[in-house]
Amino acid sequence: MKVTVFGSGYVGLVTGACLAEVGNDVVCVDIDEAKIDRLNNGHIPIYEPGLEKIIKENFAAGRLRFTTDIKDAVEHGLFQFIAVGTPPDEDGSADLKHVLAVAKSIAENMCEYRVVINKSTVPVGTADKVKASIVSVLQGRGAQIEFDVVSNPEFLKEGAAIDDFMKPDRIVIGSDNPRTTELLRALYAPFNRNHDRIISMDVKSAELTKYAANAMLATKISFMNELSNIAELVGADIENVRHGIGSDSRIGYSFIYPGCGYGGACFPKDVKALEHTAKENGYKAELLSAVESINKHQKTKLFSKIYKHYDGDLSGKVFALWGLSFKPNTDDMREAPSRVLIDALIDAGATVRAYDPEAMGEARKIYSDTQSLVLCDSLYDVIEGADALAIVTEWKHFWSPDFERLKQELLTPVIFDGRNLFDPAEMKNQGITYYAMGRGL
Ligand SMILES: NC(=O)c1ccc[n+]([C@@H]2O[C@H](COP(=O)([O-])OP(=O)(O)OC[C@H]3O[C@@H](n4cnc5c(N)ncnc54)[C@H](O)[C@@H]3O)[C@@H](O)[C@H]2O)c1
Repeated sequence: MKVTVFGSGYVGLVTGACLAEVGNDVVCVDIDEAKIDRLNNGHIPIYEPGLEKIIKENFAAGRLRFTTDIKDAVEHGLFQFIAVGTPPDEDGSADLKHVLAVAKSIAENMCEYRVVINKSTVPVGTADKVKASIVSVLQGRGAQIEFDVVSNPEFLKEGAAIDDFMKPDRIVIGSDNPRTTELLRALYAPFNRNHDRIISMDVKSAELTKYAANAMLATKISFMNELSNIAELVGADIENVRHGIGSDSRIGYSFIYPGCGYGGACFPKDVKALEHTAKENGYKAELLSAVESINKHQKTKLFSKIYKHYDGDLSGKVFALWGLSFKPNTDDMREAPSRVLIDALIDAGATVRAYDPEAMGEARKIYSDTQSLVLCDSLYDVIEGADALAIVTEWKHFWSPDFERLKQELLTPVIFDGRNLFDPAEMKNQGITYYAMGRGL
């Protein structure tokens, strides 16, 4: 089948690559010429495990092309996926300018029936706006061309995106036209063989389902962070509590890790956007607002612990930092807790020596003007001569470090751990002063 994907970011590239992998003829289009040039020269602009191989193989096989030529892209695909960014506007609502720009491009260039599929995370009512925008352009052109608009939100996780796309928990198709649902069903058939994962529903419910999923996950994290703050105050260990409640099958172990806050391109903006949708409709979403403010506060907790340990005197201190990406297995630093910590340490007069397995390129871009952040080549380079170590991302190879070396290289053996990687008793045995999240014992 012929597929066009607008937006070659995390979602667009994974969607395009996976649809090509199962034999479709895919064109990925982006307005970022440099990105498309890089892709055409074999450079993958993001880190996502397994993505590079699939892109390269399908590109070589001619099933996957990259272009900035919108006319060619609209002519190509029966299916026109919209997978562009929906960043937060100043008031917290989702900014739809990129989505509506794509709708306009499709309408300006389409000559025959097209299925316009919204994969970007968008507020309820966006499909109607996309439809209205296309109708208006077609009317202006004096063209009478049929089209359908479908909501098909994406649930992939960065770091496991290929697996999530290839073996999804569910494929939500929101459409008011059964014929279009059948077309989508056929497109997704290769990913739907083991059992039926397609959940078809009306467009608005599909749009809301995506926000509901992210808001629920963010709520679990903020709930656990709130509990971890209480545990700290009363002298309990949140890790014991986590096991205690996770064992209840109604609660489960997933997504109940305490830490230094959630980040990324989705949870922060999606919680805010849903809160805004509620407000627009006359409802005060108090739970969502608490989820967001708990998270904001949680991102400052590691700094508070550091500040307290040094009695507020951080000037001239050097901190080693393990992890920059907002979670492991991605290079994405959007809204990452590391950024809050780095900024606070630098503001307080400290220097940060940081290492991340994949996000160094991103950090270089974000902190290009900052002398006080030094990016180092390995997890042991960063600790040389540092006063203490802070951990913000739970990359696998941070879990079992050489503690003897840490003790030798750090000026004082102190670890501030935002991800609870180590056992406090073991740290005590090692002679390391260890601060974790919610482990008040
Ligand atoms: N990243 C995730 O984990 C994830 C998961 C599920 C859903 N989503 C949602 O998917 C959408 C895309 O997210 P992302 O992380 O892939 O974004 P991204 O920023 O990585 O990529 C967006 C791409 O769209 C391009 N673009 C913007 N306007 C365009 C236009 N008019 N025509 C063609 N391309 C255009 C940009 O240049 C950019 O390359 C968002 O709505 C996001 O909330 C993201």
